[in-house]
Amino acid sequence: MTTAADSPRPRIALLATGGTIAGVGTGEGAAYRAAVAPVGELIAVVPGLARLADVRAEQLMQIDSADFTDERLLALARRVAALCARDDVDGVVITHGTDTLEESAYFLHLVVPSRKPVVLTGAMRPATALAADGPANLLHAVAVAAHPSSAGRGVLVVMNEEIHSARDVAKVHTLRLDAFASPHGALGGVVEGAPRWWRALARPHTADSAFDIGRIDALPLVGLVASHGNMRREPYDAWVAAGARAIVHAGFGGGTVPAYLRDAFIGLRARGVLLVRASRVGAGPVIRNATFDDDGCGSVAADDQNAPRARLLAALALTRTQDAGEVQAMFLSY
Ligand code: SIN
Repeated sequence: MTTAADSPRPRIALLATGGTIAGVGTGEGAAYRAAVAPVGELIAVVPGLARLADVRAEQLMQIDSADFTDERLLALARRVAALCARDDVDGVVITHGTDTLEESAYFLHLVVPSRKPVVLTGAMRPATALAADGPANLLHAVAVAAHPSSAGRGVLVVMNEEIHSARDVAKVHTLRLDAFASPHGALGGVVEGAPRWWRALARPHTADSAFDIGRIDALPLVGLVASHGNMRREPYDAWVAAGARAIVHAGFGGGTVPAYLRDAFIGLRARGVLLVRASRVGAGPVIRNATFDDDGCGSVAADDQNAPRARLLAALALTRTQDAGEVQAMFLSY
């Protein structure tokens, strides 16, 4: 094994979890199976990786990211935190399926107590595609993780030559290479092989977060229900019956609740369930008390967090407090 004494290259731990970046075509057309190629094969096709960093690879999982349960998310966070705590690791890169990449990235952003760079990347095309994007994304992710300027910026997502904050980024297209975007814009880009920064994050994260994976054994169950015309109360009742401690309502516009469901929503708190009002729009804040009496109903407005991330923040918040006002403060803080 290469040691710090004989290698001035940054030492990057590469955790592979599967996804399309490890996908392999199954026929003539666009069909492929995600999470097949082992991490050694992903590295082998990236010329220049070894010049950038001393990369130590580990196949942590081999899954389609749709199969990320909370248990797997906790296992990922524990492994990342353990690697960041080591003196012989300068940064961590995670290859991940793009479908739930934004959720894993945000969770790590809130619970890994380290200033070392942690970078997630993936691919929109499988490794066997004619113009696969995985190799360049992996190279850029390692370049960002290996660069000293990336420290202390929170968990980063590197895709298609852009560097996004895990707080903001979301997958916004099913196919295109520029599938990832942040409502407030990317933090930076990969320019001539190195990170170039345009802005910094204002909200706390990683080492400054109140949440620490070292103190979290399990996550409380939090459900999510998306809005649509002709809504019904049954999905909310089903989450209550399943034992959910909170339900994220991905509401219309600013988190609006249909008038004919208002009483059902108001009743959630009495049933021991916290209502978190997010929006199905994907950008912009949900304002407390603007379209719903959050003060009267003991509910929480999700600020500008999208619904999947609001689920994770609500679960983390409920590991610390049951008080709706304190949970609200966390949403406005993180
Ligand atoms: C996945 O999320 O694991 C499959 C899709 C992708 O990586 O783009």
